[in-house]
Amino acid sequence: MSFKIGNLEIENKIILAPMAGVSNSPFRILSRKFGAGLVYAEMVSDKGLLHKNEKTMKLLYMTDLERPMAQQIFGSDLKSMVDAAMYIDQYSDADIIDINMGCPVPKVAIKAQAGASLMKNPDLIEEIVFSIVQNVKKPVTVKIRSGWDINSINAVEVAKRIEKAGASAITVHARTRAQGYSGNADLDIIKAVKENVSIPVIGNGDVIDGPSAKYMLDYTGCDAIMIGRASLGNPWIFREIKAYLKDGTQIDRPSHQEIKEMMIHHLDALCKLKGEKVGILEMRSHGPWYLKGIEHASTLRKQLSQAKSKEEVIELINDFFS
Ligand SMILES: Cc1cc2nc3c(=O)[nH]c(=O)nc-3n(C[C@H](O)[C@H](O)[C@H](O)COP(=O)(O)O)c2cc1C
Repeated sequence: MSFKIGNLEIENKIILAPMAGVSNSPFRILSRKFGAGLVYAEMVSDKGLLHKNEKTMKLLYMTDLERPMAQQIFGSDLKSMVDAAMYIDQYSDADIIDINMGCPVPKVAIKAQAGASLMKNPDLIEEIVFSIVQNVKKPVTVKIRSGWDINSINAVEVAKRIEKAGASAITVHARTRAQGYSGNADLDIIKAVKENVSIPVIGNGDVIDGPSAKYMLDYTGCDAIMIGRASLGNPWIFREIKAYLKDGTQIDRPSHQEIKEMMIHHLDALCKLKGEKVGILEMRSHGPWYLKGIEHASTLRKQLSQAKSKEEVIELINDFFS
């Protein structure tokens, strides 16, 4: 089950995706606890880091419980990307530095010419990866998309450049920037990347359970799979996939009692990390994710979006599940 990124041994092939607003310390701890072999922290801006922006610096918070962990950075300016990577290398306990070349949101991909926008400029990609690798000790990984749009699918070319520049692994989210999160991930692109580079390839896109994880690994030959949306409100997915990959065991979905306890635990951890106000605000996203598929939860969903204190949220959750 294990594989290596640089000299770092990763105990299994199941990885939590970087997700802004989600893949923070509490969620990474849960993901590791339930079986993710490696977790990616949400992206931080190179400029935000260098200007010691308060919000950005808070995003760097991590604990040893999460390790091994990759810290992702985004940006497009060569010098500030290198400086930001050097900062992480020196001051963060993260085990890996990851470069975002897949983010589609306008603020990142258009305004900052970063994220997926870099897919349009393979020369700059190579330059950024090479310069970062030369200046840091931690292994460097890169997360890309299939390409900018359907007419410019270049994941294989970009992956070769990234390998040449010295990266230790590459994640492929097999959709173009134009696709956003719609349509299906194209596993043939992950397969083609795997056939053309010798560094580990992490497949990403639409893994939702044990069978889809196994299918991606078998079909593409990728070294590991990365899970994003299917983990929202569902940290149990890691234990499910782990059991399925081991011997085909299908683990039962969590009981209502487990979901209730997890919601309260997650709320508590978010409030401890970010303060009560932000914690309950973030629970307005996580709550409905946890309640997905549970009958008669619409009133609770609405109540969660209006609750004003941690105690009130806990009471609402307890009432609903009793
Ligand atoms: C809420 C959310 C936030 C995301 N934030 C990031 C991010 O910070 N960096 C990144 O590289 N990808 C980000 N992504 C993309 C995911 O890492 C992943 O590539 C994508 O969701 C496809 O995987 P999935 O089909 O398993 O969800 C984000 C996705 C979601 C849904």
